[in-house]
Amino acid sequence: MLSYQHDYHAGGPADVHKHGSLAVVLTHMTAKNKPMSYLESHAGAGLYDLQSPMAEKTGEARQGIERWLALDGPLPDHPYRRVVTETRNRFGPHHYPGSPWIARLLLRATDSMHLMELHPGTQPRLKGVMRDDNRIHIHHRDSYEGLMAILPPNPRRSLIVIDPSYEVKTEFQKAGQLVLDSHRKCPEAVIMLWYPLLRDHWHHPMCRRLEQANLPKWARREVLLASPSGPKRLYGSGLMFVNLPHGIETSLDQTDHWVPRVHPGETPTNSSHSS
Ligand SMILES: C[S@@+](CC[C@H](N)C(=O)[O-])C[C@H]1O[C@@H](n2cnc3c(N)ncnc32)[C@H](O)[C@@H]1O
Repeated sequence: MLSYQHDYHAGGPADVHKHGSLAVVLTHMTAKNKPMSYLESHAGAGLYDLQSPMAEKTGEARQGIERWLALDGPLPDHPYRRVVTETRNRFGPHHYPGSPWIARLLLRATDSMHLMELHPGTQPRLKGVMRDDNRIHIHHRDSYEGLMAILPPNPRRSLIVIDPSYEVKTEFQKAGQLVLDSHRKCPEAVIMLWYPLLRDHWHHPMCRRLEQANLPKWARREVLLASPSGPKRLYGSGLMFVNLPHGIETSLDQTDHWVPRVHPGETPTNSSHSS
């Protein structure tokens, strides 16, 4: 099932959480003088126009990145702010970087990228945006078999980002299994899994299973975007990490703290936790 299009959600509050954290992790990993691989199982289009009819329809970017950029709180030199600004300088003020574009801007000449995208309309967009960069390999294939085929990567030092569209309940189980299989094939990789917090608790069995798997340097970080008992089905944004790099918790806490909440009229304060 491939009906999901990230254009509706690009730059929304959940993206601010996910992409702000991604920028922190990549900045930390690229500070070390060793090359790395970046692998993404569900890459999306790479770049989004926030004035597209889809983005305008939901208005999520106004609730997310536009509010975040207007806040005094987030550090002026936060790497997420840097990549959003750089993207806008290059493509125009209404553009927003997806995770592949964020990685492209933060990785070095010695690093490599593998991006998987299955949607027949989205994959050519990704390819177009990522062209002219020989560090980048784009795979038009199902990530649930494709990721296993390219693991372990070269260089083995790597960040694997898993960000499915969760269109159906079974995708939670598949995403959890992909984390476990990826870790088995590349135990040293940092793995970052995004998941939605849904009122019907579809994420709970997956979270429990991964919690019980005794994965190394495991962390679960969640930001509430709205009240769990409110009208919205999605009430928060979750990230799980395997091999979370040492020493970045404070930067991730600061990032979580400033993620804007969904409802208009509410102050942008959040509750987040890691374990
Ligand atoms: C949430 S979006 C990705 C957003 C992107 N990671 C970002 O943050 O900018 C999920 C993407 O996965 C793609 N997709 C869905 N099922 C897939 C599969 N089995 N293999 C590869 N891509 C898939 C969808 O077409 C969609 O573009």
